Amino acid sequence: HSRYAVFGQPIAHSLSPRIHTLFAAQFGIALDYRAIEAGREDFVQVLDAFARNGGRGANVTLPLKEDAAALCAECSERARRCGSVNTLLRVGDMWHGDSTDGAGLLRDLREHHDFDPRDQRILLLGAGGAARAAAFAFIDAGAAELVIANRTFERADTLAAAIDAPSRVAARAWTELSIGDGFDLVVNATAAGHAGAAFDLPCDRLASRTFCYDLSYGKAASPFLDWARATGASHVSDGLGMLVEQAAESFAIWHGRRPDTAPVHAELRAQLV
Ligand code: ATR
Repeated sequence: HSRYAVFGQPIAHSLSPRIHTLFAAQFGIALDYRAIEAGREDFVQVLDAFARNGGRGANVTLPLKEDAAALCAECSERARRCGSVNTLLRVGDMWHGDSTDGAGLLRDLREHHDFDPRDQRILLLGAGGAARAAAFAFIDAGAAELVIANRTFERADTLAAAIDAPSRVAARAWTELSIGDGFDLVVNATAAGHAGAAFDLPCDRLASRTFCYDLSYGKAASPFLDWARATGASHVSDGLGMLVEQAAESFAIWHGRRPDTAPVHAELRAQLV
């Protein structure tokens, strides 16, 4: 029967097999969904072997999302704009690619945090692949202002230029940031502080309405969210909700049905603490 998998490196701790198995159980589907380790050098061969063995759909994570976009015969408009594919669907003898990260982020913000980006002022930290999907999603959702700040300014500048909405998007160097001026949302899309390092940002106080969201999640404390709490943000969240929501989008592409994300989110959350 049909097989599914998530590809990446490292992949052993991926939550995707668990999430998709729980979704499938909601519909009585017995799902074969595995985590398959592949690096940039062997991804094409490993994915080919998967397809030959009945692979019908796949998720793709770090560091393969751009490679996945490059090997697809067709990509959705949103995937093409981000230059990134996290969802593959086998059609005939070809792969179709989509990117559900941005939609997953928006759905988590709107449904679980009562936050609609429309007309909001947003600060995005980072300019890598994760930041890119978030940036396009915010602009498409009608954000009034998006400031992209990155350690390497050129990458922020390149991303801002790619979005091509100069009246709403600006790039800043990390060292030129002043966060005291009333952002509604601050999103961390950097890998900074993952290794337990401190997270230092130039900011005295956040407005109490400022919502701070970290795209990453895990058992370890988030240095960004620790910083946010210490700086006065009243509402903070990690990215577990986005993970579950992007998975639900992928599930709908493969199975034509939208799972209930709430119980899956709750179960994963209970395992993380
Ligand atoms: P991803 O696809 O997860 O976004 P990436 O493309 O490697 O991965 O991007 C990582 C992001 O984290 C980048 O914005 C990176 O900044 P640079 O472009 O300057 O490399 C950011 N980052 C990583 N370590 C950081 C650190 N110690 N301080 C600040 N930013 C950091």
